[in-house]
Amino acid sequence: MGNVTQSSVAAAGQAPASWVLVTGGAVRLGRALCLAFADAGWNVLLHYRHSLDAAQQVQALVQARGRQCRLVQADLARPEAAGPLLADCRQALHGQPLRCIVNNASQFDADTAATAQADGLLAHLQTNTVTPLLLGNGLLAQAQQHGTPPPGGAGWFSVLHILDQKVHNLNPDYFSYTVSKLALERSVALQAQALAPWVRVCGISPGLMFLSGPQTQDNFDRASRVNLLQTPIDPVQVARSVVFAAENPALNGCTLPVDNGQHLLPLSRDVMFAVDESLP
Ligand SMILES: NC(=O)c1ccc[n+]([C@@H]2O[C@H](COP(=O)([O-])OP(=O)(O)OC[C@H]3O[C@@H](n4cnc5c(N)ncnc54)[C@H](OP(=O)(O)O)[C@@H]3O)[C@@H](O)[C@H]2O)c1
Repeated sequence: MGNVTQSSVAAAGQAPASWVLVTGGAVRLGRALCLAFADAGWNVLLHYRHSLDAAQQVQALVQARGRQCRLVQADLARPEAAGPLLADCRQALHGQPLRCIVNNASQFDADTAATAQADGLLAHLQTNTVTPLLLGNGLLAQAQQHGTPPPGGAGWFSVLHILDQKVHNLNPDYFSYTVSKLALERSVALQAQALAPWVRVCGISPGLMFLSGPQTQDNFDRASRVNLLQTPIDPVQVARSVVFAAENPALNGCTLPVDNGQHLLPLSRDVMFAVDESLP
């Protein structure tokens, strides 16, 4: 369907919903992202790895909002993951253009600089850095094939990398994860330069939103208030900020912290350890 572009659609006065790919879209922030995009009128390609049941539940919620939702499955830790996933997306969309990719799926395993192993470092880098960047390249190829050449279509396509407030507020816990997110954060400007003028690239860096790793509920309840507002960070607000970045054609090559100011409170350890020294 290579001739359906944003300009031809607008000219016809019957704009169909745009499609977004949300990786890791079945649970937690991914779920909130799918619902926020649906609430904003987008159709959703929901990527999952193992969480098929949860993905189908989110699919039903998106459809209940009157939007389309199709599922695609992939293990993003595989070195060749991006190409087949993009091919599955093309097949699922029957030629409709994908407008936005949100790289949300993430590996988050505990290690330190002293305990990091090659396989853990490489797995984090593959899932959290390499595959997201290659998915962005795939969106460039699709934009050049289907999009309206800039300036007419400028700002329409975007790649949004979900980072972490840690990239602005370093501590050495979760070392491999942090290295992978730092590499992705440093890539935002480079990739924006490289994919211009076709595709915008931005980062969104949330603060602590969900209980993870060895955290107890009590630990999470205390840690979630360690930010300038002393209030838990609402994942819905993070998701709405991602939709804002997808829809704002002037945002490019920048990273937006959405963390109640958590990144402005330096800690020598990850917040879950900082509030509970009994954790390993
Ligand atoms: N959680 C927080 O408080 C927090 C704080 C700051 C930043 N963030 C960032 O926000 C994003 C979402 O966080 P989250 O806690 O909601 O994520 P999460 O629950 O840790 O992971 C989201 C999904 O990523 C998918 N995933 C993991 N490894 C994968 C792989 N190798 N291939 C394909 N999919 C894979 C899993 O999908 P399946 O379940 O389908 O297997 C998982 O459900 C992440 O980028 C994270 O770094 C989170």
